[in-house]
Amino acid sequence: MDDSAAMNKKETILSIKNLVMDFAIGHSSKGNVMRAVNDVSFDLNKGEALAIVGESGSGKSTGARILTRIYKETAGKISFKGKPLADYVSENGALEYARQVQMIFQDPFGSLNPVHTIHHHVARPLLIHKRATKRDVSQKVYELLELVGLSPAVETAQKYPHELSGGQRQRVAIARAIAVDPEVILADEPISMLDVSVRLGILNLMADLKDKHGIAFMYITHDIATARYFAEKTAVMYVGHMVEWGHSDSVTQNPQHPYSKLLLSAVPEVGRRGKRELSVKKGDIPLWKPSSVGCPYASRCPVATEVCTQEMPEATEVQAGHFARCHHL
Ligand SMILES: Nc1ncnc2c1ncn2[C@@H]1O[C@H](COP(=O)(O)OP(=O)(O)OP(=O)(O)O)[C@@H](O)[C@H]1O
Ligand SMILES: [Mg+2]
Repeated sequence: MDDSAAMNKKETILSIKNLVMDFAIGHSSKGNVMRAVNDVSFDLNKGEALAIVGESGSGKSTGARILTRIYKETAGKISFKGKPLADYVSENGALEYARQVQMIFQDPFGSLNPVHTIHHHVARPLLIHKRATKRDVSQKVYELLELVGLSPAVETAQKYPHELSGGQRQRVAIARAIAVDPEVILADEPISMLDVSVRLGILNLMADLKDKHGIAFMYITHDIATARYFAEKTAVMYVGHMVEWGHSDSVTQNPQHPYSKLLLSAVPEVGRRGKRELSVKKGDIPLWKPSSVGCPYASRCPVATEVCTQEMPEATEVQAGHFARCHHL
């Protein structure tokens, strides 16, 4: 690596290797299992955003829930700042890990308690994680509310969640997440429930936190257009598998996997009318099991051949730092 490459190499904060998550399905005594996440690997770098894009049920939220320790992974390695996640837990560091890896949800109303003021919501993590004392907590709450664009802060702090708009509530959720100086924010569809008119404001706020405060984001979305806007890197998921990943520009401008091509063809463009969506076979989306074989997209893929139903494609580097898993690249 030459000097400039070394300078460009950002510090890896969170590293996921070969992550697998199985869920029991149906009657528990039958031992039926579905594989919601299969062999997923990626790094989150300091101050960088990775967008995880894919349709409903592709395993996006399951990945985030594993990282926040809501679910325990079936297999794989997770390390945070170079240390296995399991070590944080066994060494009484779980609270410290929880402070550094925060989550923002799709529904800001659901994540706020209607009987408490905004002040209460933002003060609580500051006190739990000893980032403020009872004496200076209000000042810190006001600073955070200003930082996320909720001014006048003193007035906002006195309000209850129902007195704010959806976009303002999501700003409160962000203030609460950044109150404890996290290294990583896992944002699970943070703008999809908001009015279109306020979505860009929230994305720009997150971009500021990333660029100016060095926070790494995992940005989960259905919308590959916002992935391109916000995130340096993009990973496309299908039925629990990463089918294509790399620099967002490369993945979105030069998609190689038939599923990524389909997602991009569905993005509306200014000046283009009518449908340009690519064709897709009417096959079912498979229920992936540990015993399943082949490419998960084979049943819907317009270019699938025999091999696709039998062998999982290897990852191929199609351009520098841009990978896809497809037998027909
Ligand atoms: N606790 C659970 N028990 C059983 N199955 C689960 C559980 N959580 C998720 N799943 C299954 O795992 C798969 C992936 O779900 P997940 O919520 O991760 O998808 P997603 O990509 O976040 O979808 P969406 O875009 O709808 O939020 C789905 O088939 C889902 O039904
Ligand atoms: Mg989800």
